[in-house]
Amino acid sequence: MSDVVAVVRGSLEEARAEGLKRIEASTDLASLEEAQIRVLGRKAPLSRARASLRDVGDQDRKELGMLANEVQVAIQSALDRKREAFEAQELEQRWASERVDVTLPGEAPPVGAIHPLTRTIWEIVDVFVGMGYKVYEGPEVELSSYTFDALNTPKEHPSRSPSDTFYIEGKGDAVGLRSHTSPVQIRTLEIEPPPVYGVMPGRCYRRDEEDATHLAGFTQLEGLAVDEGITMGDLKGSLLEFARNVFGRDLDVRLRPSFFPFTEPSAEMDVLCFVCRGEGCRVCRNEGWIEIMGCGMVHPFLLEWVGWDIEKYTGFAFGMGIERVAALAHGVPDIRYFWENDLRILSQFRGPA
Ligand code: DAH
Repeated sequence: MSDVVAVVRGSLEEARAEGLKRIEASTDLASLEEAQIRVLGRKAPLSRARASLRDVGDQDRKELGMLANEVQVAIQSALDRKREAFEAQELEQRWASERVDVTLPGEAPPVGAIHPLTRTIWEIVDVFVGMGYKVYEGPEVELSSYTFDALNTPKEHPSRSPSDTFYIEGKGDAVGLRSHTSPVQIRTLEIEPPPVYGVMPGRCYRRDEEDATHLAGFTQLEGLAVDEGITMGDLKGSLLEFARNVFGRDLDVRLRPSFFPFTEPSAEMDVLCFVCRGEGCRVCRNEGWIEIMGCGMVHPFLLEWVGWDIEKYTGFAFGMGIERVAALAHGVPDIRYFWENDLRILSQFRGPA
């Protein structure tokens, strides 16, 4: 065997060993790409060894050519195997990073809800609308003639004092923020022909020290029924129907004699304390009962004021604090919670709108 043959064979073997080593040493697809150029490219040891086949005699060239092919196939298959391994690895990484768990719950967008006071108003209005009442509204800035005079409330009545009622600057005591929804009774009787069955929700204002049961700005719902032959029995039956619907049957209610300038006789409706159920506790101030509304038979003074025939028509009226009703219905110990707009509290009232 000539020297040339030995040299060419040696360099072919070396090209194989070097090539396989280089391929083995690659760490990813990019470095494998680079290794391929170095082991199979034009300037690669294998190509150079192939070129030197020219210098070998015909007989040896055939054998060395077969060896060169064998080296080439070995290198090529090593490259293919490595590439497949890298591709599989890359795919696996992509699967891992792009994995989507379709069974995970979606992200719920924040959804608003009706404010508990509004819901309470809707609930009460529903009960009365079911009994044939219509809904009326009046202004929050109101003439004192509607807030007080037409409601048989004399000038010297303490509720008219500027320490109780907010008056509008420059208007003396003639215009103020209404201290109750009762002026809407007069406005309704003025515009509607008899009979009248109405409920009037709205905001009211008083110069009150705020605490767990008082707010300077609060919500009332007024009710008025004037027709032929209405009695105190109708008042009691209607208000019981309301109470059963809103508080359920397990919270008892009671009527207690009282006084209002615009009703005669007058009464106060109490609901059994939801905390102590009559035993007496902090929430009901040891009364066992919580007052939620004033009511009574419409004073003939009001009907005469609007020109209705007092021989023919009688009626009853009532006014309740919505914050207190909502607090009672939901067991909320402080009505200020309804106005502080703390979503941690308000979102607990999320319910069917
Ligand atoms: N206006 C009274 C108040 O704010 C509540 C009230 C009592 C309304 C008796 C009425 C009623 O319609 O008849 O305390």
